[in-house]
Amino acid sequence: MPSNSIDSLLHEDRQFPPSPEFAANSIADPSLYERAAASRVEFWADQARELLDWETPFTTALDWSGAPVAKWFADGRLNVAYNCLDRHVLAGHGERIALHWEGENGDTASYSYAELTRAVKQAANAIAALGVGQGDRVAIYLPVIPEAVIAMLAVARLGAVHSVVFGGFSSESLRSRIDDAGAKLVITADGGWRKGKVFPLKDAVDGALANGTSTVEHVLVVRRGHNEVQWTVGRDLWWHDEVATASTEHEAEGFEAENPLFILYTSGTTGKPKGILHTSGGYLTQVAFTHRNVFDLHPETDVYWCTADVGWITGHSYVVYGPLANGATQVLYEGTPDTPHPGRWWEIIQKYGVTIFYTAPTAIRSFMKAGRQIPAQFDLSSLRVLGSVGEPINPEAWIWYRDVIGAGTAPIVDTWWQTETGGIMISALPGITNLKPGSAQVPIPGIKIDILGEDGTRVDPPAGGLLVVSEPWPSMLRGIWGDPERFVETYWSRFSKDGVWKYFAGDGAHVDSDGDIVLLGRVDDVMNVSGHRLSTAEIESALVSNPMVAEAAVVGAADEATGQAVVAFVIIKTNQKDAHTTDEAVALLKAHVAQQIGAIARPRQIFIVSELPKTRSGKIMRRLLQDVAEGREIGDTTTLADSSVMTVISDKLK
Ligand code: WT7
Repeated sequence: MPSNSIDSLLHEDRQFPPSPEFAANSIADPSLYERAAASRVEFWADQARELLDWETPFTTALDWSGAPVAKWFADGRLNVAYNCLDRHVLAGHGERIALHWEGENGDTASYSYAELTRAVKQAANAIAALGVGQGDRVAIYLPVIPEAVIAMLAVARLGAVHSVVFGGFSSESLRSRIDDAGAKLVITADGGWRKGKVFPLKDAVDGALANGTSTVEHVLVVRRGHNEVQWTVGRDLWWHDEVATASTEHEAEGFEAENPLFILYTSGTTGKPKGILHTSGGYLTQVAFTHRNVFDLHPETDVYWCTADVGWITGHSYVVYGPLANGATQVLYEGTPDTPHPGRWWEIIQKYGVTIFYTAPTAIRSFMKAGRQIPAQFDLSSLRVLGSVGEPINPEAWIWYRDVIGAGTAPIVDTWWQTETGGIMISALPGITNLKPGSAQVPIPGIKIDILGEDGTRVDPPAGGLLVVSEPWPSMLRGIWGDPERFVETYWSRFSKDGVWKYFAGDGAHVDSDGDIVLLGRVDDVMNVSGHRLSTAEIESALVSNPMVAEAAVVGAADEATGQAVVAFVIIKTNQKDAHTTDEAVALLKAHVAQQIGAIARPRQIFIVSELPKTRSGKIMRRLLQDVAEGREIGDTTTLADSSVMTVISDKLK
């Protein structure tokens, strides 16, 4: 029986074993752990054979001779889109709904597997006619509409590589991603719906391509917002002209398992986002395996909904590839949780009878704040599995999620993973694991995780340390696009030695007395705002690109709603000091960051200061600024070049 003790703040002792009925019908069974323990590589090879259709079967599962670049199932060939579409139709499931799409403005559409397959074949023909073939890069900058899924799968079907850019990113961010990948084609929309309004996308694409030096030959535009757009004749084409008229026949060709599938940019510790590269066979194996087992997917009866935007890794792995590879029925929603009313998400769950729901702690916390009377107005009794991703979920939010959304019975899986890991790495399996609030719990079968001290030796629980993945896994990144050195440096240099490669995730963690892994947040200069990754350096470089700014330092400060929030300390150039009032300067700089990177990067606070705390070697001591931003007493200042700086800063902010 769970005990709801108050001292759980120190040690969480509430445990929730699976109900006997849930365990009896569970897709996963404990033999998965046994099989994986017997032979990790064989285990993954079995999963690849069981879960996917191979045009040419592979004979070797893992080739680690080029470490840290892995090759999984390398002599096998498959088509990713065929695995997500055609084979379900051929198996007699063509009538099953693949997507129930809900637009924010109330528009809806649904696609059966047969219809989605036909739509992807048409799009593949249209995109191929624009000269896109194997290995070419296609940038996708779309709202969450069916065409986003169709475009991704059509690119995959051709063996080309997509780079999806989140629609909330600025024109400037889009430009750098298009240029870095050398994209040939951009697929976008006129605009999309968000918070009751149409936001323009095509305009941002025009801006990104304005200097005329881009590798982009065509821009394919979906009509969604019906907002006015500029048109560059010859370059710009309407989706409804090109795709709707294309042939519905398209034979999927098999590509090698290591054929690149997508690039997805994510923030690192420097100013420049990293293009994380994922390939085909191993990626699809792990996302299909985890989607099926972590969410206990019964494809005939479940209705699954992951609220992530397709522009993030969660949208790639658990909206597009995992669910569709498994032949699931899912909901796709374009808008925000509270438009046009605060119960919109719960209304959608009621409308479609959603059974499996996957979202982020930041959303749960904001619903908690709004109160249980909002979800109470809807029938949520269809829900049977709940998932969480993106940041640690605090026990209070976990219990609320289970009680208020999951009727006090639905299991919650807290899934830890990253853009780089491609798929879920640490999570309970809901029919097997005794669930515990506040912990991602255990590595999934076939994954080896260790917690190491600074010196690389394993720490003894319950001591904390740095999280590493100690063995290669199928959906691991294969590199950083165009930057093999940064790949080795960022992830592999810290703990690898003597030919033993260990992947450094950038997270702190500890193992509690039950053997469960508790995540403690990033240990590098990466912030986690509402489950989205932002780099301090990237925001600093956006700030200093403004002519007013001499120097800037950014920290992530604890925030009740968003996990962390962006707080900036800025020195204004002497000759600019009188140009604006402090309030004006702060407002201008907040807007500048949003315009440079995107609204998600807009600082919660900007403090105008006259100096920044630096060590004698000139390194900014962010730790001290974080103390200020979080209202704590300031820590050790002895290594500062000028120890009075912090007194000046903190006095100023009082
Ligand atoms: C970082 C990865 C994985 C998709 C969404 C974010 C943090 C993610 C959890 C969790 C604690 C988590 C980590 C990780 N994180 N999930 N369940 N518990 N922390 O992907 O943008 O690549 O960020 O998100 O710090 O390193 P991402």
